[in-house]
Amino acid sequence: MKDKAFIFDLDGVIVDTAKYHYLAWKKLANELGFEFTEEQNEMFKGVSRKRCLEILLDLGNIEASQEQFDRWMVEKNEDYLTYIEKMDESEILPKVKKVLKYLKKKDQSIALGSASKNAQPILEKVGLLPYFESIVDGNSVTKAKPDPEVFLIAAKDLKMKPEDCIVFEDSVAGIQAANIANMVSIGIGDEKVLHEADYNFKDFTEMKKKFIKKLIKE
Ligand code: BG6
Ligand code: MG
Repeated sequence: MKDKAFIFDLDGVIVDTAKYHYLAWKKLANELGFEFTEEQNEMFKGVSRKRCLEILLDLGNIEASQEQFDRWMVEKNEDYLTYIEKMDESEILPKVKKVLKYLKKKDQSIALGSASKNAQPILEKVGLLPYFESIVDGNSVTKAKPDPEVFLIAAKDLKMKPEDCIVFEDSVAGIQAANIANMVSIGIGDEKVLHEADYNFKDFTEMKKKFIKKLIKE
């Protein structure tokens, strides 16, 4: 019997893909004749592709037919994929692999809980796919974070109770989802933004082995 399940968000937790999402949305915005800033991109973290486009079009005051909307969704993703294709191991955020290795050594369950429909190819590209027992992504959920669905499916997949699950997240919606699911929430990023989390770290380099040990045993 495993002690705990550790559920990782992907974008912004395992890899810094937020910058590629940003570049692809910015390109589309510029094509449509308006600017899209990095500050505005903060709103897009943890948010589904469809919802991101809705927000983007609102920002640009643009109305679109369903057909046009769908075409822009495809266009943005095709552009995003040109960045993903070039990804390799070097894009894994600092100390993430060390934490995954440690959890494996301690025989803990590991899952992915991401809103992205590109999660599987990204994990493959950076060589982390073998670490994950369960992958719950944008293709397997019907409700977006802060709905807890994504994490609850992962827990069920791993046959673990929600209270025995620990979630690593860089988005406000993701932390809220973990809290609603009654899981331990760990914010990775700006503590002020992620103040609803049970614990906060700037990144995994700040996380001591002692802390992970404590999570496994508590
Ligand atoms: C989330 C990102 O992980 O995935 C969001 O934080 C992104 O910014 C969402 O919009 C959907 O990603 P994708 O790859 O399906 O377009
Ligand atoms: Mg994220």
